[in-house]
Amino acid sequence: MARKDFLDIVSLDRAEITHLLDQAVPFKDLFTRSVKKVPALKGKTVLMLFYEPSTRTLSSFEVAAKRLSADVTIFDVPRSSVSKGESVRDTIDTLQAMRADYIVVRHRLAGQPAAIARQTNASVINAGDGAHAHPTQALLDAFTFREVYPEMEGRKVVIMGDILHSRVARSTSTIFEKLGVEVAFCGPGSLVPQTRFRRFTNYDEAMKWGPDAIYLLRVQKERQDAPFFPSDREYHSVFGITEERLKRISDKGVYVMHPGPINRGVELCDGVLDYERCLISQQVENGIAARMAVLFGLKPKVS
Ligand code: CP
Repeated sequence: MARKDFLDIVSLDRAEITHLLDQAVPFKDLFTRSVKKVPALKGKTVLMLFYEPSTRTLSSFEVAAKRLSADVTIFDVPRSSVSKGESVRDTIDTLQAMRADYIVVRHRLAGQPAAIARQTNASVINAGDGAHAHPTQALLDAFTFREVYPEMEGRKVVIMGDILHSRVARSTSTIFEKLGVEVAFCGPGSLVPQTRFRRFTNYDEAMKWGPDAIYLLRVQKERQDAPFFPSDREYHSVFGITEERLKRISDKGVYVMHPGPINRGVELCDGVLDYERCLISQQVENGIAARMAVLFGLKPKVS
């Protein structure tokens, strides 16, 4: 049975994930056609409710919904009555009265999209909640990795950087694990918690493990109340992809991924963006197809 909401990766099984990835393929094929739209969600309304900033996720959901012919409204949180103290619950009651079919939510509090999903008949999609989950990012990451490695089983990915504060690390490691990809975390000891995944606190040891891709993360200073390492320069020299490390990565044919936004001179040098196995732009493009698949696959309750 189709789900009402899309809140995390943990609750999806491998068959559901594979179905979504397969569904995204024909949607991506649309991008090279002269008419890039299909009427699948004609007459439906998609509402974007972003309480935190976003470039990629917000614009990609907007494009995805429009390519499915939905009507899209972007709720302008800073200029809304939220600034007058309106609660999330009251905002959702108001939006429910407008009968949106889909609500795409980003919020700094873990669990807020799930709470909204319990309150509304609309299908709720988690576009990132605190350090908890970012399931559509995970889906586009898996889709991108599968494009370069159609047989994902047994491949290895090292996720490098600020694991502790990263919702992307949680969702993307989980989706890879469910698809049979081996995952390791690497970064400063202060930012890599003990989990079920292999853990490295030394860049060279992580590379000796033989990853097929390095998945870089931004250091999320906005979620840290004290510095977790001495300086950006220090971080770059110990864990960043420097020009010298890029050369070795290139010699081994290792792919580089990153969810964005990037911090040049911290987790990567400029040269990474020109590296032929850098998948960052491909991830952004695939975000539209993956989000089309999610929107297409959900079933809002009739209100
Ligand atoms: N990857 C990601 O979530 O980027 P945005 O914050 O720009 O949406």
